[in-house]
Amino acid sequence: NDKMVKLIAGNWKMHGTADSLAEVRAIAEWARKFEGGVEVALCLPATLIHRAAEAVPGFTIGAQDLHHMEKGAHTGDICAAMLHDAGASMVIVGHSERREAHREADADVRAKAEAGLAAGLKVILCVGESLEVREAGRAEQTVAAQVDASLPRTAVDPAVFSVAYEPIWAIGTGKVAEPIDIEEMHRAIRERLVSAYGEAGTGVRILYGGSVKASNAAEIFAVREVGGALVGGASLTAADFLPIVEAGA
Ligand code: G3P
Repeated sequence: NDKMVKLIAGNWKMHGTADSLAEVRAIAEWARKFEGGVEVALCLPATLIHRAAEAVPGFTIGAQDLHHMEKGAHTGDICAAMLHDAGASMVIVGHSERREAHREADADVRAKAEAGLAAGLKVILCVGESLEVREAGRAEQTVAAQVDASLPRTAVDPAVFSVAYEPIWAIGTGKVAEPIDIEEMHRAIRERLVSAYGEAGTGVRILYGGSVKASNAAEIFAVREVGGALVGGASLTAADFLPIVEAGA
């Protein structure tokens, strides 16, 4: 954990229009100061990817989803090659908001992760339990099963593949998992990664996501096995996001 360069990715979800490019520029410019010490990325709405990628060359711009197929009759969908073509170099797959609102199952998430990697995109694969599952004492087994069923079956390079643990009850709620719970869950995920990929599984970064902000980032980054963060609301402005980046550098 100490030697790993942390990955701190912003997930803008359904926020942002052309006026937000100033924030993208500010974040990218400032992140350059930390080059080598921390990896920073912004996963934007699809409509902003191309303009953002042109505005901040060399900075990682990502997408929030993709269709697993290469092309075809899929109205409204975007495939990995299209994202790559637009200038994206990363993609989030399996976010709980997509698992819920778009009924994505583990098998869909796996297909998306595989498609992203095959197209040369960096992939962040999200997992996480609901409050109901946590209260029933089944958080670890549920997340481990999600990981097992959604990990790409291809070999993974830790430089381009990460897992994000996002407890659903901590997303956008201001509630953050306790350091001990994060540590235990990340350890359980690590076990699954090592079982799937052997040595390579030890290097895959496991990010925490769920109400990460400037005031709690340092505490979260101090937890063993936390390899970075996936940040929603607090990634929308440079003022909120940069202190988080700094805490991880
Ligand atoms: O993907 C990031 C996310 O779901 C966490 O959102 O707003 O709680 O940081 P937020």
